[in-house]
Amino acid sequence: MIKTLVQLSDPHIKLPGARAYGRVDTARFLRQAVQAVRRLQQAPTAVVVTGDLTDFGRPDEYAHLRELLQPIDCPLYLMPGNHDDREALRDSFPAHGYLRHGSPFIQYAIDLGGLRLVAVDTVVPRESHGEVCAARVDQLAQLLAQDTVTPTVIAMHHPPFRTMIGHMDEIGLRDPGGALAALVARHPQVRRVICGHLHRAIYAPWAGTLAMTAPSTAHQVTLDLAPDAPSAFSMEPPGFLVHAWSDTGELVSHVASVGPFEGPFPFHEDDGQLID
Ligand SMILES: [Fe+2]
Ligand SMILES: [Fe+2]
Repeated sequence: MIKTLVQLSDPHIKLPGARAYGRVDTARFLRQAVQAVRRLQQAPTAVVVTGDLTDFGRPDEYAHLRELLQPIDCPLYLMPGNHDDREALRDSFPAHGYLRHGSPFIQYAIDLGGLRLVAVDTVVPRESHGEVCAARVDQLAQLLAQDTVTPTVIAMHHPPFRTMIGHMDEIGLRDPGGALAALVARHPQVRRVICGHLHRAIYAPWAGTLAMTAPSTAHQVTLDLAPDAPSAFSMEPPGFLVHAWSDTGELVSHVASVGPFEGPFPFHEDDGQLID
C-alpha cells in the first residue's frame, strides 16, 4: 500500500486582506494549495508545513493560518521558520501537543506507519539565517537513536546544502563543526532531508542522503545563480512536494503544481490508439 506525506512550505500568512511585500495574496495561494491537496488522487497520510508559516509571527496571523488549514482532514504537523515565533505558534495551536515536546526548541518525531518524520528546529530568533546548536544536535541524536530501522525523513526549515542562489545562501544554515552532517551521516535510516526557506524545488546529495527544498505555496525565489544576483521573487506557478512510501521501504518524492491547469486526459487519440 502506498502512503504519502504532503509537504507544504513557506505560506507566509499575513492578516486577512494584507499582501506580502505589498503584492502577494498569500492567503489566497494557501487556500488554493489546500484545495489541490484535497483533490490529490491519493488522500495523504499526513501533511507537514516546513516553516515560514506566517510572515511576522503574530498571534493574529497564526489565527488566520489555523482557519486556512482547517480543510486539511489528515494529521497536520507544523514547524517554525525564520519568519515565525515559537511561542505564538505553540499558543495558537494548543491541540498540537508535539510542538512542546522539544522545549525550548520545536523538535519531534512522529511515526507515520512505515515512515518516521523527525523535525529539526533551525530558527534563530530575530535572524534570517538558521543554526543547529549543540543542544539541538544532541536532541536529534536521541530522536534518531530511538529507531534506527524505520525509513526516516528529517524536516527542517533551512536546507543544509549550498543552493548557489547567493542571497539565500547568505541566510542559509550554520552547522558549527559539521556536527549535524556527521550525525546524519551515521544514520543510514535517514532517506531524505526535506526543507523550505528557498521557495523553489532544489535537490542535492548531503551527508549520505538526499536533501531537497519545496516550492512555496505562494511566491518563488527567482532562479538566478549569478554571484551578485539581487534578492528577488517571481510569481512562478506554486507547488508542494508529495513524499510517497511503500511497505517495502521505498521512498520517492514528487513535485506537484498548484493549478489552475487542465487534465487529467487519457493518453490516446479519439480512435482509442495509445500515443504514449
Ligand atoms: Fe519563506
Ligand atoms: Fe525562511
